[in-house]
Amino acid sequence: MCGIVGFIGREEAAPILLEGLSRLEYRGYDSAGIAVYDPEEGLQVVKAKGRLQVLSDIVAGGKTIHGTVGLGHTRWATHGEPSDVNSHPHVSEDGRIAVVHNGIIENYMEIKEYLQGKGVKFVSQTDTEVVAQLLEYYYKKQPDDLLGAVVKVLHRIQGAYAFGIISADHPDQLVAARKDSPLILGYGKGFHFLASDVTAVIRYTREVSYLDDGEIAVLTADSVQVYNALLEPVEKEHHQVDWEISAAEKGGYEHFMAKEIMEQPKAFRDTVFPRIQEGQVVLDDLQLPVEYLREMDKVYIIACGSSYHVGMAAKYTLEKLLRKPVEVTLASEFRYCDPIVTDRTLALVISQSGETIDTLAAMREAKRLGARVLSIVNVVGSTIARESDDVLYTWAGPEIAVATTKAYSTQLAVVYLIGLYCAKLLGTVGEEEYRAIVDELLLIPTKIEEILANRGDIQYFASIYFNHPSIFFIGRNIDYAVGLEGSLKLKEISYIHSEAYAAGELKHGTISLIEPGTLVVALAGHGKLFEKTMSNVVEVKSRGADVLGVTTAGRTEQMGKTADHVIPVPDTHPMLLPSLEVVPMQLFAYYVALQRGCDIDKPRNLAKSVTVE
Ligand code: G6P
Repeated sequence: MCGIVGFIGREEAAPILLEGLSRLEYRGYDSAGIAVYDPEEGLQVVKAKGRLQVLSDIVAGGKTIHGTVGLGHTRWATHGEPSDVNSHPHVSEDGRIAVVHNGIIENYMEIKEYLQGKGVKFVSQTDTEVVAQLLEYYYKKQPDDLLGAVVKVLHRIQGAYAFGIISADHPDQLVAARKDSPLILGYGKGFHFLASDVTAVIRYTREVSYLDDGEIAVLTADSVQVYNALLEPVEKEHHQVDWEISAAEKGGYEHFMAKEIMEQPKAFRDTVFPRIQEGQVVLDDLQLPVEYLREMDKVYIIACGSSYHVGMAAKYTLEKLLRKPVEVTLASEFRYCDPIVTDRTLALVISQSGETIDTLAAMREAKRLGARVLSIVNVVGSTIARESDDVLYTWAGPEIAVATTKAYSTQLAVVYLIGLYCAKLLGTVGEEEYRAIVDELLLIPTKIEEILANRGDIQYFASIYFNHPSIFFIGRNIDYAVGLEGSLKLKEISYIHSEAYAAGELKHGTISLIEPGTLVVALAGHGKLFEKTMSNVVEVKSRGADVLGVTTAGRTEQMGKTADHVIPVPDTHPMLLPSLEVVPMQLFAYYVALQRGCDIDKPRNLAKSVTVE
């Protein structure tokens, strides 16, 4: 949700900023801009509504800007519609201070009115311009103290922010500040970066540090000084990013989403295999004492979007394995529902980015109420990872497409590992069952490969159904959880209206929407519930629906007697079915969106990492 990058060094900043923005575009893409300090011309700002390409074309088309310090921004609009003037960077009235911002300044209106009362003229509708103007206001009161002015602004504003700030009066400095929005610093020889995430800097440096809430950094070409909110110097730990830049590139695929779908077997192996040794799940990175597990009153799963759908599958899995109550809640609801949490509650927080603001805020609330937090996170060093009591990383590598695929799959994988590990400690799983699940877990990547090899069939089904105005997904138990994800994937990237229903619930309302020719995707992998789901398939068939069934290889024939088409997935342990069933759902959504000519990696109105409430 908005990507920011800042550079200070000895090379031309503009191309470096544009390159950085190209890596951050998945965070927001309704407008983009850069500001560079040109020693001869002063602060130069180029910004434009539309994709980054629009901005790049303007710069390439002659609006060359020289200078070795600058800021870049790619926007997902909150305050003020996407437009040239609302794009970042925002500049103070005297044109000497430029700001990029990710987050929301909640009290911006009050400050705006205050400044307007002092005669300050505003040009945009954004909350961010208020920060640029307020900075100028404080700076003028105490000239030559940019850091002092930044601190005053931070005291005055409320909300969430990651800022990059440059000033024509201090062209040797780049200032960064954060609260509740991600910000990293990148270290090089003779240059430094600030950025929303490491993808923006990896081409230039692998050495990074993660700013914490309340911290401010002053970067020069040769130094970085970080301060806490009291302006006391802080020593930051430096980390080495260990993945290659190719991991954040398309690698010959038309879309990141296609690449990431195809990467799932590897991502699953990387996440699971090192954690299984001699048939046992080994979670060295988990510190949950068995006494805690025994006393645990419930598991509260907190997540948003697809991560929440992993939580839905996890509920079935963990309750079965641990025999403890598991509640799944949307992070945005958790905060305001007066949740029943005790010091015996385990909050299981699931997040690809580790930065989703609703999830982060819910996690903090759970902690405040006494819960112990175990998180499943993909982005190393992200805020949720750092603030959890325990974190288990999903080793999916960078995920760029807005619609998640490989992160979802690896989150599920970690859920299985947690379930098996804790069940073994608690003694709630029999030895034979444990071994059967572990053995099957090791086969999942090969089985996913099998499904991927047959993706041509799914592309064919997509070519039949891509024009349907409305598509329903039904299933029971974990099939229902997968249906939720299949439906979300489809609507996210193809803009087809879609709903997922627990198959047994269909008759309580939604069945009234089934007409001759309506497509129903019926998930019926769960062996014990197959017959039950099939009776719902018969119900929709009798009302004229087209049914695209998904079941295990062993039941394909049986399902084919009623369904119009069947997508088989390899047989596996019922608990692990979501890992296989989700793959055809992802492929179906992808091929439908492809047929419809949609912008698959950057669907309208969405952003990968949602850092506003
Ligand atoms: C956004 C993304 C979804 C993602 C959700 C939660 O809405 O578009 O794909 O599932 O955020 O993100 P998280 O990073 O917390 O898993």
